[in-house]
Amino acid sequence: MDQLNVAIVGGTGNLGSALALRLGAPGVKIIIGSRDAEKAKNAVATLKPKLRAGELVGTTNREAVKDADFVVIAVPYEGHAQMVSDLKGQLAGKIVIDTVVPLNKVKPFVPPAGSALQEAQQILNGEAPVVGALHNISAVDLGDVDAPLGDVLVCGDDAAAKQRVMEIIQRIGATAYDAGPASNAYVIEGLTGVIIALNRKYKSKHGSIKITGIGGA
Ligand SMILES: NC(=O)c1ccc[n+]([C@@H]2O[C@H](COP(=O)([O-])OP(=O)(O)OC[C@H]3O[C@@H](n4cnc5c(N)ncnc54)[C@H](OP(=O)(O)O)[C@@H]3O)[C@@H](O)[C@H]2O)c1
Repeated sequence: MDQLNVAIVGGTGNLGSALALRLGAPGVKIIIGSRDAEKAKNAVATLKPKLRAGELVGTTNREAVKDADFVVIAVPYEGHAQMVSDLKGQLAGKIVIDTVVPLNKVKPFVPPAGSALQEAQQILNGEAPVVGALHNISAVDLGDVDAPLGDVLVCGDDAAAKQRVMEIIQRIGATAYDAGPASNAYVIEGLTGVIIALNRKYKSKHGSIKITGIGGA
């Protein structure tokens, strides 16, 4: 892959900031998006000393997506539909990576669209492919760039977009699996609720999933 521009909408948060550090590599430009440009710039100042390579900049969410090849949605579910609606009209030619888990505090639920991913699909109405990924990864491990990562289930209805997202997941050091169509997203999103329960029960911050019995993902 040549130059790669990745915008992280909500990139000031736990998952987005951790992902930025993992993405840091030569030829990669990471654009941290926030509702507040100043907050994005502050996040960049904090993250930059830890970035291994690549370029890191911060701006508003709307600005962030402009030059991006990939747009990662990393905001809490409460802000998901509004955020995707706000970005609509600017996403043609890009691939949207939806990481969002519908949670009521720590309890997962199935939203009216069937999943957060399908909600984004409905809102975007074909403007850009939406691929679900990274739901079951611990942000703590993601931000520790040398830590081993769990597996990543990638789902969506656009096979080519899904393949490109799987390549990015491999680049950050995780094994990606094609976990089927967007209609599987509610299971993958909901699994995060189970991982949260496991983390609580076993006093961990590192719970994730591992697929066994399938070779050569
Ligand atoms: N944390 C994890 O380990 C993890 C793992 C897998 C998946 N996820 C999913 O990733 C997403 C982000 O998780 P997180 O832990 O990073 O969340 P977070 O830190 O609570 O929030 C991420 C960012 O979203 C923005 N935001 C907050 N409320 C918003 C709203 N109502 N509308 C628009 N933007 C809002 C904030 O950025 P600004 O104030 O700068 O705009 C915030 O820094 C969630 O949907 C979560 O389910 C998280």
